[in-house]
Amino acid sequence: MIINSGKNERTLGIYVHVPFCLSKCKYCGFYSQAEGDEKKTLSSTGDKAVAASPLTVEAYMKSLLEDIEEYSRVYEDCNFIVDTVFFGGGTPSILPYEFIGEIIAALRKGFTFVKGQPEISIEANPKTLTADKLKAYREYGINRLSIGVQSFDNRMLEFLGRAHRAEDAAETFKLAREQGFDNINLDLMFGLPNQTMNSWRDSLDKVLSLKPEHLSLYSLQLEEGTELFRMFENGEFAQLSDELDRDMYHYALERLNKEGYDHYEISNWALRKDLRCRHNLKYWDLSEYLGLGPSAASYVNGVRFSEEPGFEYRENSLEDNAAELAFTALRTGEGIDRQLFCERIGVSFEDVFPDIMKRLEEHARCGRLEIDDRFIRLTEKGIDTSNQIMSLFV
Ligand SMILES: C[S@@+](CC[C@H](N)C(=O)[O-])C[C@H]1O[C@@H](n2cnc3c(N)ncnc32)[C@H](O)[C@@H]1O
Ligand code: SF4
Repeated sequence: MIINSGKNERTLGIYVHVPFCLSKCKYCGFYSQAEGDEKKTLSSTGDKAVAASPLTVEAYMKSLLEDIEEYSRVYEDCNFIVDTVFFGGGTPSILPYEFIGEIIAALRKGFTFVKGQPEISIEANPKTLTADKLKAYREYGINRLSIGVQSFDNRMLEFLGRAHRAEDAAETFKLAREQGFDNINLDLMFGLPNQTMNSWRDSLDKVLSLKPEHLSLYSLQLEEGTELFRMFENGEFAQLSDELDRDMYHYALERLNKEGYDHYEISNWALRKDLRCRHNLKYWDLSEYLGLGPSAASYVNGVRFSEEPGFEYRENSLEDNAAELAFTALRTGEGIDRQLFCERIGVSFEDVFPDIMKRLEEHARCGRLEIDDRFIRLTEKGIDTSNQIMSLFV
C-alpha cells in the first residue's frame, strides 16, 4: 500500500548503519561490535546484536555496496529523490574516511540526489575524528555532524564505559568548527546512576558554551543484554530516582528555552527551525526511508522491512499507518497534525480512533495534552507520562 505522501515529489531518506565501535559502552543496546570483536560473535555485544557470525569491515563494505546496487535497481522506477542520508551506528566515524567516500559515491551513482544540498549526517565518537577525516567528510558533501558527548563529567564517562574523556569532546568540537562544520549536534545523557543535578547543570553549561546548532538529550534507558543491565541485576548500582530524572529534563527544557533552542521533539532541540534534523523528521511523519547495513529498518512503498533476522516483511495496513503516524507525531513539538493526518491516511483522526480520542480528551482535561482544532500535542507535564499516552496506539 502506498499512502498519499501529501507531496508531489517522492523523496527518500537513506540510513546507513555502521556496526563498529572503538569499544562497547556499557549501556548501549545498538547493534554494534567493538574493535577486535571480529574474533567474537556479534551476539555477545547486546540484545539487538543478533547476527551469530563475526563481521569484518571488508565483509561489511562488500555487502553494503552490493545492497546499494541491488536496491537502486529494485527502486529504479520509483523516481525517488534522495534528500537525506544518515550514517548512524555504531560509530560510522571509526571507518577509514575513504570508505565513507566510497559509500556516498555508490549512493550517488545508484540514486538521484536532490539538487542543491541534501542533508548528509554522520555520527561520530570524539576519539575517532581527525582534521583529515573531517576535511574529507566536507569534500564528500557531509554537512551535518553528530557527536556523542554524553557527559562532561569524567566520572560519568568512566562509569558508562566511554572511550573518551570530557576534554576530547570539546577539542573534537573545535576541530570540526575549524574544518567548516556549521551544523553540529551533540548528544548528552542524563538520569545516570549517581549523577547529581550539579553534574548535569555543569554538562549543560559546557555544552552550551560550545554553541552547537542542535542538541539531543537522552534519559538513560536500561537495555536488556547490556553490561549495565547485568550490573543492575547484580545490585552493583541503584537507578536514579524518576523524580530526579524528570527534574533534570525540566531543568534542560527551561535552560535551552532561555538559550533560544527550539524544542521540536521529546529529545531534540535545534537553534533554528531549518537546523532540525531533516532525516530524523522522516521517522516522525511516516515519510519513506531505506535502511542499509545490518539491523537497519526501512519503510518504502508502504512496506516495513529490516535485514534483522526474524523481522517480518510487513505491508502496512491503513490502521498500521494511522497508528504509526499518530504515535510518532506525538513525540514532536507540533504533535499530531489532524489535517496532515487526514491527507496522509485519507480518513479523519476521529473516525480512525473514536475511542482513543475520548481517552486523549481525558488526558487533556488533566493537563497532559493540548488539543485544538488542528493539533494534539503533549504538554510539558504530558512528556513525563508520554509512554502511557503513546501506548494507546500500540
Ligand atoms: C548510536 S549512538 C551514536 C553516537 C556514537 N556511537 C557515540 O556514542 O559516540 C547515538 C546516541 O544514543 C544515545 N544512547 C545510546 N544508548 C542509550 C541508552 N541506553 N539510553 C539513552 N541513550 C542512549 C547516546 O547519547 C548516543 O550518543
Ligand atoms: S560508541 Fe555509540 S554506538 Fe558504540 S557502543 Fe557506545 S553509544 Fe553505542
